[in-house]
Amino acid sequence: MPSPTDIIFKVEQIVKKACRSKANYFKASVWEDHFIPVVTYARKLAHKLKADEEIVMLAALLHDYASVTNKEWVEKHHLVGARLAGEILEKYHYPSDKIERVKHAILTHRGSQKLKRKTLEAEILASADAMAHLAHVHSLFHLAYSIKKLETEEGREFVLAKVKQSYQKLLPEARKIIQPKYDAIVELFEKKALG
Ligand SMILES: [Fe+2]
Ligand SMILES: [Fe+2]
Repeated sequence: MPSPTDIIFKVEQIVKKACRSKANYFKASVWEDHFIPVVTYARKLAHKLKADEEIVMLAALLHDYASVTNKEWVEKHHLVGARLAGEILEKYHYPSDKIERVKHAILTHRGSQKLKRKTLEAEILASADAMAHLAHVHSLFHLAYSIKKLETEEGREFVLAKVKQSYQKLLPEARKIIQPKYDAIVELFEKKALG
């Protein structure tokens, strides 16, 4: 079996390539705008909370892999992503108990799906994903106006709803880090009576 560091490196190359591919429904910079921030926050939280960094890194790298691989998979990318992650990691003879932990984190990373998170690593991935949305809120605008082609008001509502949904999934430690950005976004985009 390749070393865990080698596997993380190989997985990183696979996901990066998928982001850069023409088949990617999102723009190629989703790698820099989303995957890298998710991995960075996940690693930071794993360190802070003494979680398994290896599981967290692999799950963070693979969590949206299905979405960037095939447009048809966007709606169920947590399910397909968990399956694909299993297939990739099996190829590298990664231990099956660890594969299950990576798959569980991917399966439960979405705030919109009511799947129970049973591990600290899964909680960390969900938080890191949400933190990336809050820290890189411009990519949510790209999603709203450029990808989904929403009208101005619809787009604002979409972004604000996504921001609030993201905040709901945060662990207390993650909230502490991202709170100023969250407050600033809500202050800017919440519709208030003109005074
Ligand atoms: Fe996702
Ligand atoms: Fe994500």
